[in-house]
Amino acid sequence: MLVLGLETSCDETGVALYHSERGLLADALFSQIDLHRVYGGVVPELASRDHVKRMLPLIRQVLDEAGCVANDIDAIAYTAGPGLVGALLVGASCAQAMAFAWGIPALGVHHMEGHLLAPMLEEKPPAFPFVALLVSGGHTQLVRVDGIGQYQLLGESLDDAAGEAFDKTAKLMGLPYPGGPEISRLAQSGTPGRFKFPRPMTDRPGLDFSFSGLKTFTLNTWQQCHAAGDGGEQTRCDIALAFQQAVVDTLTIKCRRALKQTGLNNLVIAGGVSANQALRQSLGQMLGEFKGEVFYARPVFCTDNGAMIAYAGCQRLLAGQHEDLSIKVQARWPMEQLQAL
Ligand code: KG4
Ligand code: ZN
Repeated sequence: MLVLGLETSCDETGVALYHSERGLLADALFSQIDLHRVYGGVVPELASRDHVKRMLPLIRQVLDEAGCVANDIDAIAYTAGPGLVGALLVGASCAQAMAFAWGIPALGVHHMEGHLLAPMLEEKPPAFPFVALLVSGGHTQLVRVDGIGQYQLLGESLDDAAGEAFDKTAKLMGLPYPGGPEISRLAQSGTPGRFKFPRPMTDRPGLDFSFSGLKTFTLNTWQQCHAAGDGGEQTRCDIALAFQQAVVDTLTIKCRRALKQTGLNNLVIAGGVSANQALRQSLGQMLGEFKGEVFYARPVFCTDNGAMIAYAGCQRLLAGQHEDLSIKVQARWPMEQLQAL
């Protein structure tokens, strides 16, 4: 089965062709980062309009790259939520219109299920069951995964998501959007041990997270340094390192707890923050204790992309799932509501 995957939940237009036997045939992405950067974050209306502009050229591009024609496509998968409603509607209406015209099925995919299954596109995919740490711009969740659609939420952020904390922290230090890659770049030149930031909610039991206090702690530290005439580049790097280390340690402590609690020894990390090298390293080391492994997608498939939607959609379409002709998207959509395969 050849599936066309469309991702438009936020500020990336992602399109891919995934074949159930031949694997990923083509993948194309247009990132709107430059469009939103001047505003310091994503402007939803601009995002929707840009998805409209990019969608059809990207579909033509993946068809060319794969050496396929529209007639070869057996089904279409699109992100139906969670995300920005206007942006989601572009992918959903485009998918439904083409599915109707071509007489093929279309299926709305959960964006976080896409992220969660992205490591399945790698050479050595993880086997079920495993614990998944989903860390993106909008979500921080620990999930027990027993199969596709068999998700048990173990813990989640009570306020900011991990990626959001990176973005907000970067912004208050005057760094451009998105902040995650900026902070991790500056952290490489940071002085270890100059600042010690808190590891929120690690001193009490449970698997929930809270990152908003860390942002305030960073702001106070940055302002104090400034007031003391010490607001230069090195201080920014030192703060970036202390902040990143606090997030990485906090996530590692909670992942260790989740593995102990579930008795599982494999961990999948997915979503934009899973591209972070310090996080990958720390979790890899921790998994040694469990004689297990940590799995993640290649960097371009950690952040939003069409390939993960085409893959996740293909698994569900093969099981016979598809939508009727109505166009439905959801800004919020708990993953436990998904049907098990
Ligand atoms: O998964 P994603 O592309 O979009 C959402 O579904 O939200 O994640 C984007 C988030 C942003 O907050 C961005 O700052 C963060 O992932 N991010 C990173 C890194 N690369 C992207 N955070 C930390 N380190 C990185 N290397
Ligand atoms: Zn995402």
